[in-house]
Amino acid sequence: MPSKPNAASRLVFLAFLLVISAAAANDDAAARRTMEQFAGFPASDDGEGPSSDFHVDSEGLQRQIDELASFSDSPAPSVTRVLYTDKDVQARRYIKGIMNQLGLVVREDAVGNIFGRWEGSEPGLGAVATGSHVDAIPFSGKFDGVVGVLGALEAISLLKRSAFLPKRSLEVIMFTSEEPTRFGISCLGSRLMAGIEELAQSLRKVVDNQNVSFLDAAESAGYKLNLEDLHSVFLKTDKYSAFIELHIEQGPILEKEGIPIGIVTAIAAPASLKVDFEGNGGHAGAVLMPARNDAGLAAAELALAVEKHVLESGSIDTVGTVGILQLHPGAINSIPSKSHLEIDVRDIDEKRRNDVIEKIRQSAAHISKNRGVELSEFKIINQDPPALSDKSVVDAMEFAAKQLNLAYKKMISRAYHDSLFMARGAF
Ligand SMILES: *[C@@H]1O[C@H](CO)[C@@H](O)[C@H](O)[C@H]1NC(C)=O
Ligand SMILES: [Zn+2]
Repeated sequence: MPSKPNAASRLVFLAFLLVISAAAANDDAAARRTMEQFAGFPASDDGEGPSSDFHVDSEGLQRQIDELASFSDSPAPSVTRVLYTDKDVQARRYIKGIMNQLGLVVREDAVGNIFGRWEGSEPGLGAVATGSHVDAIPFSGKFDGVVGVLGALEAISLLKRSAFLPKRSLEVIMFTSEEPTRFGISCLGSRLMAGIEELAQSLRKVVDNQNVSFLDAAESAGYKLNLEDLHSVFLKTDKYSAFIELHIEQGPILEKEGIPIGIVTAIAAPASLKVDFEGNGGHAGAVLMPARNDAGLAAAELALAVEKHVLESGSIDTVGTVGILQLHPGAINSIPSKSHLEIDVRDIDEKRRNDVIEKIRQSAAHISKNRGVELSEFKIINQDPPALSDKSVVDAMEFAAKQLNLAYKKMISRAYHDSLFMARGAF
C-alpha cells in the first residue's frame, strides 16, 4: 500500500526506540523496571546504555528504501516483488548484504526466512527479535514491510555506532512471502515458523497460476529443499523473549488524527469462509416467481445476514465483509443457478468471532431450506486465533514514545502481519 515518505520516516523511529530507549533516565520507576526487564540492560545515565547523542541516519535509511524499491517488476514509483522471482532474490541479496556489513551472523532457513543475529553478552537468554517482509504485491508502494526490515537494521547499526553491547541477542528477521500473491498463502514464512503442520502438508502440492510448484519456485530462488526440510523451519518455543514488528498503518486513523505512532495492543483474529448455493436456474421470463429457487437471492440474503450477525455482536471490534459474490451464469435474462460468496470475519475476541461464524452457518442452512436451494459448500478456509501484545512490549513502546515526546495512540491492528504468527509460534 502506498504511503508518504515522511510518514514512513516518522514511523521508522519506533524500531530503534524499542531497542534503545531503556537507556534513558526517567522518574517513573515502574516503567523503568519494565524497560530494564524488556531490554535486559539498566536504564541508567552512568554510561552502561548507549550514549544519548546518537542519531538515526535517516538519509541513509531513505536511500536504502529507494534502492530496495528499484528491485521491482513494475516501473517506479510502484513496486512489484513477488516471492522467489529474480527481483525477490535481488532484494534478499541486498538485505543479507546489509546484515553482513553490520557484522550480524546471517542464517537462512529452508524456505528463505532470513535471520541476522547480533550475539548478546548472555547468549543463553532468549533473543529480542524484530523484522517484517520485503515482498510486495503488484503495483504496491515502497514502504509497507520494508520499513520494518530496513528500520530494524538501522536500529542495529545505530546501536553498534554507539558502542552498545546488548545483553540479550538481537535478531532482525526478514520473513518469506508475507503477501499471498504467488501461492495464495499469506504470511507463508511465519506461518511455517509457527509450526502449522497443515501448511507444511499443503506446500507439498501447491502450485502458482503458471503451474509452478512451490518446491520448484523455491529451488529456482536457490532454496533447494526436501519435503522433510519444511519441518526444520518450525521454531523452538523458547528461542525469543520478545518480537516486535514495525509496519506502516494500513488504515486511515493515524494519518487522519496526525499521530505519528500507533502502539498495537492486539491483532484481530481473521477468519475466511467460502459458501456456494445451487438452484435450478431458468429463464428470467419463463419461470414465474413461485416456481423459482434463485441461488443469487440466497447469496444476497446471506450477505445481509453476515452484516446483521456482525452488528448483533454489539462490539465495534467485530467486522464482517462479503468481498466476493459471484453469480452463474451471469446473464440478465437468466435466474442465477449458482452463487459463490467469500466472507471475511474478524474480531479481537475469538469466541465472539466464532459465534458470528456459527450464526452465518445457521443462516446459510436456513436460507437454503426456505428458498429450496442447495447449500453445496460451506467451508472455513482459515480461522486464526487473535494475538494480544505482551504488556511488557506495549509498556516499553509507550515509555519510549513518552521519553521522546512523540504522540502515540494505542490501537488494535485489524490488518495482520507476520507478528500474528510469531505470537502463536515463538513463545
Ligand atoms: C501442472 O503440472 C503437473 C506436473 O508437471 C502436470 O501433471 C499437470 O498436468 C499440469 N497442469 C496443468 C493445468 O497444466
Ligand atoms: Zn506488509
